[in-house]
Amino acid sequence: MPVVDIHTHIYPPTYVELLRSRTTVPYVRTFPDAPDSSRLIILPGEDDPSTPSTSRGRPIGPEYYDIAQKIAFMDTHKIDTSVISLANPWLDFLPGEKAGEAARKINDDVDGLCAKYPGRLYAFGTLPLSAPVEEVVQEIERLASLKHMRGVIMGTSGLGNGLDDKALDPIYAALEKNETLIFLHPHYGLPVSVYGPRANEYGHVLPLALGFPLETTIAVSRMLLSGVWDRFTKLKVLLAHSGGTLPFLAGRLESCIQHDGHLKELGKTEGRRDVWDILKTNIYLDAVIYSDVGLKAAMNASGADRLMFGTDHPFFPPLEKDQKEWHSVNANYSAISTAFKDDKVAAEGVLGDNAIRILKLDL
Ligand code: URA
Ligand code: ZN
Repeated sequence: MPVVDIHTHIYPPTYVELLRSRTTVPYVRTFPDAPDSSRLIILPGEDDPSTPSTSRGRPIGPEYYDIAQKIAFMDTHKIDTSVISLANPWLDFLPGEKAGEAARKINDDVDGLCAKYPGRLYAFGTLPLSAPVEEVVQEIERLASLKHMRGVIMGTSGLGNGLDDKALDPIYAALEKNETLIFLHPHYGLPVSVYGPRANEYGHVLPLALGFPLETTIAVSRMLLSGVWDRFTKLKVLLAHSGGTLPFLAGRLESCIQHDGHLKELGKTEGRRDVWDILKTNIYLDAVIYSDVGLKAAMNASGADRLMFGTDHPFFPPLEKDQKEWHSVNANYSAISTAFKDDKVAAEGVLGDNAIRILKLDL
């Protein structure tokens, strides 16, 4: 029974060099109180001087950029194949004139890493979203010709105005035409003010546990409300973290649409595809939710045949030194065995067979 991890990141060495050369978020640097350990600072506001040094970013070691460590992690956790993706914030922060070349280089590097481990690695590519739209489309076309690419990873900002921006239509059209799946992943969270005046006493818990999933939920709701899937009926999107909170909130979202006088006035409550249709036709969900409670909601929303196992490696490592097995990974394995305890075929689907079928992996 093959196990496939579809949510697992890497910062290839060229990207780490880029981060080391920078002095504003995102960057990699050391701090005077721990000069021997580099820290990766990527999230908005994460380097605020009032933040204690233990929650200013996270330590960055070779598990973030050395592909041999990814393979060792896979071996430890009995993962046969991984679909690796550049981690956030991707190339979102690059000036437009630099983004196209950076995307080509990183995509070629990542495809080359996959080639070193036949059958064990595939990848989601990265798009130069700050470049002109034609350049983004060119990279979508080029990615379709790279042997190990099985989609693209994207944040929620789109071209700067979110994923409900009409200017994205040529990009959605190119993705749909090439049958390229979008792996939609959060990065920006919510405005830090919502976490309150004591936020920096709570480490990364509020932005990661709640900000990330709500960011995804809002982004995908905006896509739905703007009619992206009415215009691009075959556009496929894999949502990180089991859809944020979409499986739980889909009914409320749909009800709010049906009861909105403004939308009715504009004729937008009729003749549209509803959220349930899209969840079961266009959306796929990862199984990175750490509990059978959330996983069952994901299964009920999209179907067990659209869920795919993931780890989020190298994020969420064990905090104990010398702990080889990762609690975060085992929590996702346990959630699958609990949620699908009476359905072995469905469990095997989530663990690997769905990914093999959906992403056309040659295993
Ligand atoms: N933190 C991040 O910044 N990205 C992830 O993918 C997971 C945790
Ligand atoms: Zn992730």
